Amino acid sequence: MQKQAKVYVAGHTGMIGSAITRRLREQGFNNLVLRTHRELDLCSQTGTETFFATENPEYVILAAGVVGGIRANSEAPVDYFINNMSIANNVMTAAHRHGVKKLLYLGSACMYPKNCQQPMTEDMLLTGTLEFTNEGYALAKICGSRLCGYFNRQYGTDFISVIPSNAYGVNDCVDPNRSHVIPALFLKFYQAKQAGQKYVKLWGTGKALREFIYADDMADACIFLLQNYSGSEPINIGTGNEITIMELTREIKKIVGFEGDILCDPSKPDGMERRIVDIKKISELGWKANIPLEAGLQRVYDWLLKVGKWQEENPRE
Ligand SMILES: NC(=O)c1ccc[n+]([C@@H]2O[C@H](COP(=O)([O-])OP(=O)(O)OC[C@H]3O[C@@H](n4cnc5c(N)ncnc54)[C@H](OP(=O)(O)O)[C@@H]3O)[C@@H](O)[C@H]2O)c1
Repeated sequence: MQKQAKVYVAGHTGMIGSAITRRLREQGFNNLVLRTHRELDLCSQTGTETFFATENPEYVILAAGVVGGIRANSEAPVDYFINNMSIANNVMTAAHRHGVKKLLYLGSACMYPKNCQQPMTEDMLLTGTLEFTNEGYALAKICGSRLCGYFNRQYGTDFISVIPSNAYGVNDCVDPNRSHVIPALFLKFYQAKQAGQKYVKLWGTGKALREFIYADDMADACIFLLQNYSGSEPINIGTGNEITIMELTREIKKIVGFEGDILCDPSKPDGMERRIVDIKKISELGWKANIPLEAGLQRVYDWLLKVGKWQEENPRE
């Protein structure tokens, strides 16, 4: 990939898309093509087709998608399914038609079956039932990932798909109805500190084990794979490190400086006991994550303090 190559980052205002854009610029890629959602709705087939015909990008990183927490996913499965399917269909069809050299599609660890053996290896996809609450999203992501392979098989394209574990970072969504666990916990502790609360209540027992990757590490992995991996099999991106939800909660409490207690509510569900992606494949290619969780969490907190809009739907830069 030449530094002057024309790279289209779809979804560059999002958490992962913005991290990828930052990392590409840091590495000297200076011919990026960017469109906000408002400027180009990738659910529109004609809009997407016209954009590719006009801009002719050489490389595409598909980080646009509709992403949300458990509640939003279970209340609006149609939106999560149709929008994510449309984005994948429209972008890949146009990318193939206009001779894109390589495309990277971002899948999600939700694509793995609900009761998957841990750590989850790439060959475990489609071996079991999906988690029901986000099945619409997960199915759309599986279709997107498979579609990369289908294009490769039928048309000889070079489309790859990646399966990152839970990502966190600056520009994450902090809307309480859509947010992931890390921004949700920061918000909880920040508000508790402001209100002088004596305790913060945690859903479940806190014993569930999870893996988190900082968005900039994930961005680095995507750019690395774009340059060093080809194939129709998806490839996991993770850190190889796990942490219990309780340990994560304590770390966030410490960063925020909340002095009260953490109380568990075991009547609420923990979700899966353990969820981690297997990173053998990407490790063998020579990539590893290098931003420790504590450092990444501190950066997120600094960003939240800087934007200072804890209650707003979208404080993105
Ligand atoms: N966050 C994670 O933990 C995680 C983990 C694994 C994989 N992923 C995958 O990575 C991708 C990006 O995730 P993220 O966390 O960065 O999500 P995000 O912060 O919500 O960003 C999504 C981006 O897509 C844009 N977008 C949504 N619908 C669009 C449309 N119809 N046309 C054009 N742009 C559209 C959004 O723009 P607006 O905000 O203006 O709508 C935003 O720029 C997703 O495909 C997701 O499945 C995320």
